[in-house]
Amino acid sequence: MAALRSARRPLAILTLAALAAAPLARAQDAGATPAAPAPEGTEKVNTEKVDFEKQIRPLLRDHCVKCHGADKQKGDLRLDLRRFVFQGEGEDPIVPGKPDESVLIELIELPADDPDVMPAEGEKLSAAQIALLRQWISEGAEWPEASDKALEEREARRKLRENIELPALDEAGTQREAKAFEALRALGGLVQRVAANTLAVDVNLSLLGTRADDAALAALDGLEPTLVWLNLARTKVSDEGLARLAKFPHLRRLNLANTSIGDAGLAHLSGLAQLEYLNLYGTQVGDTGLSHLATLPRLEKLYLWQTAVTEAGAKALGEKLVGTRIDLGREAEAMLEAVAKAKAKAEAEAQKAAANEPMNSTCPVSGKGVDKSVFSEFEGKRVAFCCVNCKAKFDADPAAFREKLGAKK
Ligand code: HEC
Repeated sequence: MAALRSARRPLAILTLAALAAAPLARAQDAGATPAAPAPEGTEKVNTEKVDFEKQIRPLLRDHCVKCHGADKQKGDLRLDLRRFVFQGEGEDPIVPGKPDESVLIELIELPADDPDVMPAEGEKLSAAQIALLRQWISEGAEWPEASDKALEEREARRKLRENIELPALDEAGTQREAKAFEALRALGGLVQRVAANTLAVDVNLSLLGTRADDAALAALDGLEPTLVWLNLARTKVSDEGLARLAKFPHLRRLNLANTSIGDAGLAHLSGLAQLEYLNLYGTQVGDTGLSHLATLPRLEKLYLWQTAVTEAGAKALGEKLVGTRIDLGREAEAMLEAVAKAKAKAEAEAQKAAANEPMNSTCPVSGKGVDKSVFSEFEGKRVAFCCVNCKAKFDADPAAFREKLGAKK
């Protein structure tokens, strides 16, 4: 790659010279918004600073990282993490503040048919995408390291999940497991291997609903070495019952949604070091209980919709469990609220419209068809007339027309 780079240097200088000749055009180019080109003289200059997380990382991820990432490092280059891009040896593909000295820009700006153009395969970047990268580099090529860390941790967890390796079972272990399978199936539970190539077991008792209680958890005995997924949603398990789960060190997914579990129950989960997914939706859990989860190093997703957990409680846990996705369901709540509001509004409008509709279609005075815009209110209802004269007659003595109106209804 060094060879390519030095071979390209003269080109870079040439580009610089061309730039010097047309500084204005370039400035506009660099600032161009991704929108369609505006008519001459009305170009909008993008004055807003480029946001790395929102604009640059996704661009690199979608167009570059499959060849320059964790799996492949074409040209010895990774573009997914800051520390690989900026090694500070004078060979970095990005020179902060200097897009025209950055090899990365040089390569993405090559003509589509140039053998060295990047991306090496697929479509060339658009003018807007190139402009964005230029602007970002001009602004100092900021690349916050904190989010790299979360990304790396997620990646490590993904790898871990892909190979659930469990120690093989001996004869006695196999027999105990077979017994557990039998007992759980007798209860009406669902028991199966997570995949064909693993011993890992998935148990689902949620279909039993409240028929599954703490006693049903006893049927799990024998699955200690292999149980990885357990669904107890909607069952009658209690806080004390969860004490049994401490015996299952390989548990990765646990669903306790819509059970009566509370803070005391969570204390029994604090030793489940492999737990990646925990669903506590619709439980009694609050901030106190959450503190027991701070010891779960692998926790990736935690669902807390409709619990007593507060924003502050979730935030406190988030600070201890960096990279864990803690879902309070506030977005879903807001959405449901908006839907309910819209529905109430529509109903109120329908009611109002119905109230505005006259009770009669023929004029109580003349017997002719009505003009809906000529009306009076009578005993809380709207009465329409064929003309203003009839309305005047009616208004003079409404009671006289009551019978006629009644007959029409
Ligand atoms: C299909 C694979 C592929 C994709 C996608 C791709 N590249 Fe490359 N990239 C390569 C290969 C192969 C090389 C090495 C070329 C060589 O050695 O001649 C390379 C080299 C580079 C280099 C030079 C590395 C150095 O240190 O000299 C840069 C910079 C670069 N790519 C940037 C990008 C950018 C930016 C993108 C996305 C817009 C991208 N690449 C997308 C395959 C790819």
